[in-house]
Amino acid sequence: MPNRNGEQWLDTDGNPVQAHGGMILKHEDTFYWYGENKAGPNVVSSIGGRKVDFIGISCYTSTNLKDWHYEGLVLTASEEPQDKLYKDKIIERPKVIFSKATQEFVLWFHYDHDDYLYAACGVATAKSPIGPFILQDIFKPNRKDCRDMTIFEDGEKAYLIHSSDFNKTMYISELTEDRKALTGLYTKILIDQEREAPAVFKRNGLYFMLTSGTTGWDPNAALYSRSPFLFSPHKLIDNPCEGPNYRQTFFGQTNYAFEVDGEVYLMLDHWKPENLQASGYSILPIEVFGEKKRDLRVVWTEKPFGGKYQ
Ligand code: DGJ
Repeated sequence: MPNRNGEQWLDTDGNPVQAHGGMILKHEDTFYWYGENKAGPNVVSSIGGRKVDFIGISCYTSTNLKDWHYEGLVLTASEEPQDKLYKDKIIERPKVIFSKATQEFVLWFHYDHDDYLYAACGVATAKSPIGPFILQDIFKPNRKDCRDMTIFEDGEKAYLIHSSDFNKTMYISELTEDRKALTGLYTKILIDQEREAPAVFKRNGLYFMLTSGTTGWDPNAALYSRSPFLFSPHKLIDNPCEGPNYRQTFFGQTNYAFEVDGEVYLMLDHWKPENLQASGYSILPIEVFGEKKRDLRVVWTEKPFGGKYQ
């Protein structure tokens, strides 16, 4: 059975894909899908929230974006209660970037305590895209709190883009050439708009960002914003979703935008709050249209993703 949008997906061994809040990186001729492995029972956090204890970050590989082979955990939870990667920690939205300068793979993620009040980011590095990644640092980017985040590469530069000021405002922070730290250059956008789950891409000289509202695991309306410059105000435009349940992003949440053969795609997580490990995925084309191609459309389809790779 092929994987269908909105449902739990299976890997090439027939096991559920455990790569939530993730991303797809193309390196050489292989696609690498990194995400949160939530293959454990829901537990109640100290503030009464629903979560799965930290297990690790999974990696799956594919050459056709359709068949995903499980490569194992590339960052693994520690058994030691005093360890920074102990299972009670929150490690979400992993994003991997390759540093041409060091030839290393750098994994960034949202790092938190079980009450989401620590609000930092973590950095780990590996020589190989299938790990193992070794933890290098955990810190608050430019001394700001950091929750949902992504990494965006723009030519020779790269940026950490993260919800901050208690999820009120989005921050964009420039990465160093080795991709392991920040240069100190940063700006804030979407001020007081309460957006999270950023997915970013560039098209026709415009920067587009798709985000969700902040309603925990429950779906809400996605919005897109755009700007001719990354470091200038981004204007919130509209909900780009079209189709059933478009007001709830098809019961999904934005996660990551990536480009293949000139087309842009949006990854969604379809969270199942009662049993997070059963959460599903979608990959949907993002259509850029209109005068001067300044508008976006994301049309629902249940069809399994594979694009022209199918
Ligand atoms: C919404 C975020 O987008 C998710 O990554 C996760 O942190 C949940 N909140 C937890 O409620």
